[in-house]
Amino acid sequence: MRIPLIAGNWKMNLGIAEGVVLSQNICNNFDKSWLDRVDVLVCPPAIGLRPCLTVFEFERLKVQVGAQNVHWQPQGAYTGELSCDMLASAGCTAVIVGHSERRNLFGETNEQVNLKLRAVLAQGMTPIACVGESLAVREGHDPVEYVCAQVDAALAGIDEAEAARCVIAYEPVWAIGTGRTATPEQAQQMCAAIRALVADRFGSDVAEQVRVLYGGSVNVGNIDALIVQPDIDGALVGGASLEASSFLALIKACA
Ligand code: G3H
Repeated sequence: MRIPLIAGNWKMNLGIAEGVVLSQNICNNFDKSWLDRVDVLVCPPAIGLRPCLTVFEFERLKVQVGAQNVHWQPQGAYTGELSCDMLASAGCTAVIVGHSERRNLFGETNEQVNLKLRAVLAQGMTPIACVGESLAVREGHDPVEYVCAQVDAALAGIDEAEAARCVIAYEPVWAIGTGRTATPEQAQQMCAAIRALVADRFGSDVAEQVRVLYGGSVNVGNIDALIVQPDIDGALVGGASLEASSFLALIKACA
């Protein structure tokens, strides 16, 4: 059985002080027994990683922290970038790679997403590989073929053991931050196709272990219908992760 994962992506929101307050508010109202049934991750901006983790550690709450991006090289002249080793030293256990905002706003390619994913695995952390189609692709092309090609590219060159450690987040671009979520049926169909692709490339045992998340306007009103889908193992949450009350409600719904 796969344990669901609720991951909050704070994007470029909340400075150190605000992130610490949100982390403390999460702790204050957290039922620790939820963590028997659901994994929880928050992904603050990089400067907030260590301060937020310190709050969770002080409260002895096993909420993990993850980064929103990484560079695949171990060090060097890459102004503004952070390496896997640097993120691990801040206490990161997971890294989001290939978010559509990075692909669309910063020109990140499938090849770069693959380099990042492999570097994260080599560091012993969990990559959360984001994939998803634009509205134009959904309406004019074959979205399943498009998304599966992204998954294939992201997972290129890794072995079965590494594939089993990956998390894949299906986030249709048209649903991100728009309030327009995919229907549970649409989300399930794509997540099932992603799992089938993983089974084809790495075997059914690996496919049964890989967690496939849905992301895109997940909120308290739609999480119940999403999480009961057989191939949806949790959510990558943007806006609703910025308030303790809504983030906690999502965790509770999956626990
Ligand atoms: O990484 C998170 C996603 O981009 C979803 O964001 O929940 O604000 O739509 P959202």
